[in-house]
Amino acid sequence: MNNKVNQADIFLESEGDQWYQRNAAVLTRDEIFPDVEIILSHYTEDSSPARVLEVGCGNASKLSTICERTGAQGYGVDPSAAAVADGMKADPSLSLTVGIASQLDFGDETFDLIFIGFCLYLVDRKDIYKVVAEADRVLKPSGRLAIMDFDPPVRHKRKYHHKEGIYSYKSQYGDFFTAAGHYHTIAKKSFSHSSEYFSADANERVALTLLHKEEDPYPEL
Ligand SMILES: C[S@@+](CC[C@H](N)C(=O)[O-])C[C@H]1O[C@@H](n2cnc3c(N)ncnc32)[C@H](O)[C@@H]1O
Repeated sequence: MNNKVNQADIFLESEGDQWYQRNAAVLTRDEIFPDVEIILSHYTEDSSPARVLEVGCGNASKLSTICERTGAQGYGVDPSAAAVADGMKADPSLSLTVGIASQLDFGDETFDLIFIGFCLYLVDRKDIYKVVAEADRVLKPSGRLAIMDFDPPVRHKRKYHHKEGIYSYKSQYGDFFTAAGHYHTIAKKSFSHSSEYFSADANERVALTLLHKEEDPYPEL
């Protein structure tokens, strides 16, 4: 039997707040976020999203920037109560809640855009398809899903440095959505951790993948 504690529970209990405390200083609204810039570059004034959800939002600096620039209503979910409290204080126009990606407390087809930034790699493998299903459930048909995460040539796991019992799971997360044809890739931009360019070093690679949810994945032919 596998007695491993679920990673989401570890984040809810302690690691969410601890991650936030280690990183709060760099999560400011003054930053230029390359992932946010790419997402926004694919909208026109006429096509701006009305409702945006960020899953694993931390203090929602990125979400706040997206909403300020598009006029969208912003919603965020994160297991860190400290990050959620700070995010609401910094931008009271946002609705942020403590929660996890595998149980989203929103109705079906609520959002025009969902952003999941550096969160899927932290999701327990037992929950990964629940997370895919939840994101798909709350995203409107013809909505967009933006995933920023590691971009490994070979799927693998690594021990998470900061806490015993947690793994980082690196995979091509866009594939979870596109493989069945329900999502189409609008754009993929590869970066490295240290620069805005692709790196030949596989461990350095990260990418933003922007997907379109097909209005009708089964057109009658
Ligand atoms: C590396 S940070 C990324 C923060 C922000 N999205 C960004 O792009 O800067 C990962 C975030 O995911 C959150 N997280 C971890 N496990 C999660 C889960 N199962 N569901 C939702 N969020 C989770 C953490 O608390 C943390 O705030």
